[in-house]
Amino acid sequence: MKEKILITGIAGLFGSNISRYFLKKNYNVVGIDNLFGGYKENIPENAIFYNEDLKNSKNIDNIIKKEKPDYILHFAAYAAEGLSHYIRNYNYQNNLISTVNIINAAINNNTNKVIFTSSMAVYGDANEPPFTENMKPLPVDPYGIAKYASELDFNNAQKHFGLNYSIIRPHNVIGKYQNIWDKYRNVIGIWIRQMLEKKPLTVYGDGLQKRAFSDILYYSYPIEKLLYEHSGEIFNLGSDNYLTILDALNIFRKCAKKYEFETNINFLEERNEVKNAYCDHTKAKTQLNFNDNTDLEKTILEMIDWSIKQPKRQTKIMDYEIEKNLYSYWKNNQLENK
Ligand SMILES: NC(=O)c1ccc[n+]([C@@H]2O[C@H](COP(=O)([O-])OP(=O)(O)OC[C@H]3O[C@@H](n4cnc5c(N)ncnc54)[C@H](O)[C@@H]3O)[C@@H](O)[C@H]2O)c1
Repeated sequence: MKEKILITGIAGLFGSNISRYFLKKNYNVVGIDNLFGGYKENIPENAIFYNEDLKNSKNIDNIIKKEKPDYILHFAAYAAEGLSHYIRNYNYQNNLISTVNIINAAINNNTNKVIFTSSMAVYGDANEPPFTENMKPLPVDPYGIAKYASELDFNNAQKHFGLNYSIIRPHNVIGKYQNIWDKYRNVIGIWIRQMLEKKPLTVYGDGLQKRAFSDILYYSYPIEKLLYEHSGEIFNLGSDNYLTILDALNIFRKCAKKYEFETNINFLEERNEVKNAYCDHTKAKTQLNFNDNTDLEKTILEMIDWSIKQPKRQTKIMDYEIEKNLYSYWKNNQLENK
């Protein structure tokens, strides 16, 4: 048996895919998840699983004390960027304070290294895409602020306590095990749910926003490399192939048709979001041999194929802390599960 890796958010997209990679490579895998955004069925059988919330610092410290992982992959977060304005307290507790709890536990238990999934959201709109790691972050929403504050705290913990860490900044990652029942996030997942429920596919604004989608498949290898290299470094990870949301929608509708789903489009009120957001990946390509070969059509087909085999689940609904300026399409929550 190789070394032990503890994965937070093991029931989510990153956690369930990347835990399988490490189990296949004979690592010992322990997972923590509160099953808020992921499902128990996503967790591989041969991983040890703790159903725990990272906000409970004492319990997290105890798990890490007991399991003594060599490495921690800290993936857990609620990644609903647009919604984060309306769930500010929850966002900072869940995404920033939980990260601080992991940092504390890693320091207290002498963990060899922590890998943290930050986000492209840290760049905000002060920079022109493609974003490079040396650009000054200026996030435009609480989700991005929590990620950037977490990055700064990792840096501080390295300086003060010698904590060994690396950071990745992914963007628009998709694949099997993605939560398609969350109406606030991940455009491809939202379209799959709408397709299955025979509802129109929704587009925010004119659909000319540019994004680059990448398959989770390509993330395991660079993350494994980071266990042993590049302490204190930050890497963008994702696809170079940006396209408009409308172009992605055309590819999606073609895929839906292959599964005999007829789809319509519903254009919704524009969101307050960064119009064009994608990254440069030269650093990861040259230093981590990162090689993204995402074929968007193929990944969407795989996701649809997986999704149609899943049980029908309730759509996630959040309690808003602020309703001022809430988009019209998020106001009518009670209609969602009808
Ligand atoms: N998917 C993307 O496109 C993307 C892009 C940029 C950054 N990220 C970051 O990558 C990480 C993984 O994202 P993902 O797509 O796998 O998300 P996900 O929602 O699929 O998985 C996150 C998992 O974390 C768990 N979780 C959340 N809060 C928790 C808490 N307080 N305690 C315990 N478990 C908790 C959820 O239940 C879920 O299973 C996140 O930190 C996210 O912010 C993702």
